[in-house]
Amino acid sequence: MNLFTILVGAAVLLAVYAGINFGWRYASRKFLFPCPSWLSWSLEGGFVDWWAATSRTLDRIGLKAGDRVLEVGPGPGRLLIPAAARVLPGGEVVGLDVQQGMVERLKVRATNVLNLSVRLGNAQEMPFAAGSFDVVYLAMVLGEIPQREPALTECFRVLRSGGRLSITEMAADPHFQSRATVTRLVTAAGFTQPEFIGRRFSFTANCTKP
Ligand SMILES: C[S@@+](CC[C@H](N)C(=O)[O-])C[C@H]1O[C@@H](n2cnc3c(N)ncnc32)[C@H](O)[C@@H]1O
Repeated sequence: MNLFTILVGAAVLLAVYAGINFGWRYASRKFLFPCPSWLSWSLEGGFVDWWAATSRTLDRIGLKAGDRVLEVGPGPGRLLIPAAARVLPGGEVVGLDVQQGMVERLKVRATNVLNLSVRLGNAQEMPFAAGSFDVVYLAMVLGEIPQREPALTECFRVLRSGGRLSITEMAADPHFQSRATVTRLVTAAGFTQPEFIGRRFSFTANCTKP
């Protein structure tokens, strides 16, 4: 195999990867087309904790003891399981995921985490009473939700007044949402102007329900 063949092969693989990402991103604007639960393994373990900076993301979200917290789209619990420890004593965390497979996987991984519960449901219509949470957060999820406006209106509804919405986006995610898009969506839902922590292509946006 010569250098030319290797370069052509690499270019073809890159083009296929880019095509899949592009297609998936745009399909998600019209249809519910989430990260499939058979890929949950890719969101578990030390390597993803390193590249997606799990601990630093939780620092940026800023949880504290006693908080009642909702993660929308927790997948297998990369963030939600360690979040449960951060709200002790007295706090509890809840995950809401649209896929049964993710819910089941999270339940298995969090069997011994007594202050964590998980519900099956859609961000666009949440099964929680108004004002139920101190903090609602989403990480690498917003772009997977076809109707993002109603989902953020639901985040607003289930937060208490003064509660915090936190959105983490990373450019490595095919569904990455820019700072401008996040600002437009959260302010339209009634939240304050977001404070951004991190870089342009890997950030957490924190805002408040007035
Ligand atoms: C890329 S994974 C991210 C998982 C986790 N937040 C993390 O950062 O490791 C996206 C998750 O969001 C969930 N999801 C996508 N659309 C959703 C919706 N409309 N309502 C609730 N969960 C959703 C998917 O099922 C999946 O578990």
